[in-house]
Amino acid sequence: MAENKPQENWEPKIVGIVCNWCTYAGADLAGISRIQYPPNIRLIRVPCTGRINPFYIMKALQEGADGVLVSGCHPGECHYLSGNLSARRKFNMLKNFLTYVGIEPERITFTWCSASEGDRFAQVVKGVTERVKSRGPAAKLVKAL
Ligand code: FES
Repeated sequence: MAENKPQENWEPKIVGIVCNWCTYAGADLAGISRIQYPPNIRLIRVPCTGRINPFYIMKALQEGADGVLVSGCHPGECHYLSGNLSARRKFNMLKNFLTYVGIEPERITFTWCSASEGDRFAQVVKGVTERVKSRGPAAKLVKAL
């Protein structure tokens, strides 16, 4: 299935799967500090990015997300020691696989963001939104009804 051409005023839907201890708190700080960022993202809070099954990302793309952001604690700060490093390994493998099957790599992003980085969270969301928007709607993995 070919990618859809974006309609005027089209806005991407982005799913953010984020760690409870860092990025989710960073998003909260951005909100409390009234830092503006695009409203295109919907956050799903998980106990640790190491808990993220790569199929969650596939499922989000199948269900109509145009992009996915995964964000966890910085290296050395994971509450479960190395869950974030495990997540990065899984994510890189998934990204290679998705690129192989024709999904643009710009649609999925992995990053670190701490609880004190509200500003950084806003910048990450802006960057992700711009990259996904430049690719247009994602339709390759969307299940036909
Ligand atoms: S606890 Fe945050 S990534 Fe592991």
